[in-house]
Amino acid sequence: MAERVFCVDFGTAYTKVALRRDPTADSTLLACAGADLDFWVPTVVTVDRCGAEPVVEFGHVAADRIAGGGIDRYTNFKRDLFANPAPVAGAPAAPPLDSLLSSDEFVTLAARYHVPPYQVTALRSLVGSARALIAAPGERAVSLEATKQANAAKLTSHYFAWLRKQVLAACEKLGKTGLRFEDFPVRVSVPALLPSDVAEQPGCKLLREALHRAGWPLHSDRPFVAEPESNAVGVLTGATNALNVDRNKMLLGQMFGRGPLNTVVKGDKNHQTYRALVIDVGAFTTDLTSLWLDTGGNAFLFGTDGGFVVKQRSVARGVNNLDAEVLGALSQAKREYLEKLPRREFANFQRAAYTDLNGIRPATTGLGVIGGEGDRTVIDPCILAFGARVAEEVKTFCAEVKPGNMQELILTGGGCGIPAVRNALIAAAQAHGGEFIRVHAPVARREKAGGPQIDGELKEHFARGGSALGGASIYFESQYH
Ligand SMILES: Nc1ncnc2c1ncn2[C@@H]1O[C@H](COP(=O)(O)OP(=O)(O)OP(=O)(O)O)[C@@H](O)[C@H]1O
Ligand SMILES: [Mg+2]
Repeated sequence: MAERVFCVDFGTAYTKVALRRDPTADSTLLACAGADLDFWVPTVVTVDRCGAEPVVEFGHVAADRIAGGGIDRYTNFKRDLFANPAPVAGAPAAPPLDSLLSSDEFVTLAARYHVPPYQVTALRSLVGSARALIAAPGERAVSLEATKQANAAKLTSHYFAWLRKQVLAACEKLGKTGLRFEDFPVRVSVPALLPSDVAEQPGCKLLREALHRAGWPLHSDRPFVAEPESNAVGVLTGATNALNVDRNKMLLGQMFGRGPLNTVVKGDKNHQTYRALVIDVGAFTTDLTSLWLDTGGNAFLFGTDGGFVVKQRSVARGVNNLDAEVLGALSQAKREYLEKLPRREFANFQRAAYTDLNGIRPATTGLGVIGGEGDRTVIDPCILAFGARVAEEVKTFCAEVKPGNMQELILTGGGCGIPAVRNALIAAAQAHGGEFIRVHAPVARREKAGGPQIDGELKEHFARGGSALGGASIYFESQYH
């Protein structure tokens, strides 16, 4: 339980951080150092081994470093942390020693003997590396995965320690508030890759240890929240928090009671059911959420009369897959050039090649425009194929949930910034879910008219920051229910 909280949306490509400084304040995004123009921080770490001592950099500085020549660049460690959330049927079981080392009992035993958590992680990594060298082929696959995950846990802990300094520095810039930001607990939004409680995913166990080592006090009641649900809450509440201070109860009607939902909760015989369908296409996962409400046509008071029925799922498909397909389809020279680009410039390429459709022109390479007119015949099919695959996931998800007779569609994440992908998702959701009274989605700067109607244009704060904003909502604080 917490009156004040940070929520970190630990994105594979970009981390976003929101703050709720008290229960009645709206949640706000923090611009960390180096991210002054936007609020997202690249989830990147580099280690420069050129000098006598290795130099470790993070975020924007790391993202601008080029890998090679003694510099190692680590990206996608969130993906590695959450990869293989559960044993695959028919896959060889983890070796008993690995099971022991990753068990809760071992962690408890280590704590009893005052073995610091980083040494436990190092031991796991050591055993994983040793097995990779000597194991039989079946065992090797398992332990290589374990090693990758252990390395990701180490990087995550360093990254979060750095992030904490950035966040506290950003809070200092808020002026004299008299608040002790260093004591605020943190909640992290994570993918929902398993149908069970998100906190039970092996990735969350590793994340919990990493946060502890990095000095973040964890939210005692709910340290993790599922990305799909927090995103839905962030967008639908518009990041507002409303509390009846006398009764210490949140006013969910006020927080959610905008637009179509307002009509339904007032009690409308023609609109007895409401559904918000939220689709977030990130770098690693696509997150799908359905928030469902049935009022029976009567006035509905959130809390007293219940709340949303939430169904959510994250699938391991995101813009990283599109990037890989596009790089594979371009000429070798262009691919090699793009692979070496710093993150910020690669993001410029993504926007130019997938959204603005005009490409980038490197100054010195003699490669001409990359991603422009001349490359459309190879890039457009990749975008269409990617959009079609994500649309299939949407159709499968929609087939599992009931449509409501008042519905909203909300499209977020960097992938929904790509008009062709976004339009494919709108078509898929409509094909299987009926009419939407309102479609909220990002609209590209130079987008031509003629696509599907988008009546709720989502600005980047919500399109990219919705999950952090929602995770900081009092909606997730049981003390106010
Ligand atoms: N308008 C755009 N056009 C093309 N690509 C974009 C656009 N906006 C963002 N992206 C890219 O989309 C990807 C996903 O961004 P996002 O911030 O949603 O990912 P994330 O939250 O870090 O990932 P995940 O939630 O899967 O862990 C990034 O690679 C980003 O650079
Ligand atoms: Mg995301």
